[in-house]
Amino acid sequence: MSRDDHSRRDFLSWLGWLASLGTFGGITVASARYMVPNILYEPPKSYKIGRPQDYPEGVNYLPEKRIFVVHHGNRFKVISAVCTHMGCTPRWVEERHRWECPCHGSIFNDKGVKIAGPAPRPLPWYEVTLGRDGRLFVDERRIVPFTQALTVNV
Ligand code: FES
Repeated sequence: MSRDDHSRRDFLSWLGWLASLGTFGGITVASARYMVPNILYEPPKSYKIGRPQDYPEGVNYLPEKRIFVVHHGNRFKVISAVCTHMGCTPRWVEERHRWECPCHGSIFNDKGVKIAGPAPRPLPWYEVTLGRDGRLFVDERRIVPFTQALTVNV
């Protein structure tokens, strides 16, 4: 066996090991990836939003939750701030007592009912309750009628 044959054999052996390691590494990575589930983490649908006295009389926007807290006297209600057309944020227009969406012109009256524009549904009202710790608790999974409100003496 010549010296060239020997070095060629060493080279091919090294190439074989490299291919084996590459294959084994690929299988290991694919297996590890398979063990991690594809989970989409969404923001919680129920949460606390502070004390009733934190909200002045009127319509209060909470950008971090995309809701409006409506406070009138001792009554509190929560309505979605996500337009039912394509998800923009309608703004409350106090002079006209309605929400107006800046994106495509949907308008919702003070009950959340669409009165103009392409939105297919009204803005939903969410259940709001008072926790034992005195904080307001919103549950977006519970849609309630416009007439339902939490009564709290503030
Ligand atoms: Fe509000 Fe289109 S997103 S009208």
